[in-house]
Amino acid sequence: MANNQFFKLEPDGSYAPWSGALETLTPFASDQMLASSQTLVLLDGTMAEAGDYLYFAAYSVEGESTLHYTSEPAQISVKASIELPNNTTSQAAVTFESEVETAIVQTLCIACHVEGGFARNSALQFQRTNTASALNNFGALSTYVEKKGSDLLLAKIAGGQGHVGGEQLPKDSEGYASIQKMVTELSATSETASYVFSSSDDGASARQASFLTEVILEPRQATLRRAALLLQGRLPTDAETNSTVSDETLRAILRGLMEGPAFREFIAVSYTHLTLPTNREV
Ligand code: HEC
Repeated sequence: MANNQFFKLEPDGSYAPWSGALETLTPFASDQMLASSQTLVLLDGTMAEAGDYLYFAAYSVEGESTLHYTSEPAQISVKASIELPNNTTSQAAVTFESEVETAIVQTLCIACHVEGGFARNSALQFQRTNTASALNNFGALSTYVEKKGSDLLLAKIAGGQGHVGGEQLPKDSEGYASIQKMVTELSATSETASYVFSSSDDGASARQASFLTEVILEPRQATLRRAALLLQGRLPTDAETNSTVSDETLRAILRGLMEGPAFREFIAVSYTHLTLPTNREV
């Protein structure tokens, strides 16, 4: 459940919207031998949206009509990742190292954006070439983009937004294209979400927590009684009652109720009611 919307887990591991109606609740796994602890995969891959997800689990035993379920949901909070993709394997880092660090940062920006430099009070600080400078400068640039946005960065390097350093990279320059490319790659990687699992505390409202509380499929004996009255116009016999011990035996007995003169009468009456105007006597 997310944003007051129900979803059900499908056999292929995806989630499909669910109306909340029991008839449409289908199992994502069946023919399972239940052990005292059962391992099930709820999530594999990335979640479309960050947010709180409430999980209810339910199962029914073969031949029984009761749905067993967890009345208290488990809660999974999906949070957007705040980690910067400043590992050397990300595409943005590769582009930075090959096209930006030497050709742009160490050639142009370092003249001012460095400790003691003209732009020392600005939010963008680089390091002069050292063993870790490529990594640290990539970190500095990606942090800047994260905090202030790539539009400001791109405007400043082209001399816009009152850049005191003036036009460093004209919009049609190769360097401008390199920064633009790196920024695009950065936004692709920073969209990765991470999962934080927590148990349910106050996350579930009373309604959410109890939505399944009243769910018990009709007891077999009640179904038998209703069917016997409706289809045969009588109460179930003791023999019928006593042999209704599973859904399987109930099904067989129901099939037995659907024959004979009384059943034909039932069909004829139902059919007449359906097809004739209600004010006509038959
Ligand atoms: C000649 C000096 C000089 C050079 C070279 C220079 N800048 Fe700047 N830059 C400044 C100064 C001074 C500021 C602070 C005032 C301002 O925001 O314009 C600044 C500000 C910025 C800002 C805004 C920082 C903030 O606080 O939001 C960005 C982004 C920026 N520069 C990017 C660059 C990049 C990238 C390069 C290299 C391509 C570069 N600059 C080259 C002088 C320079």
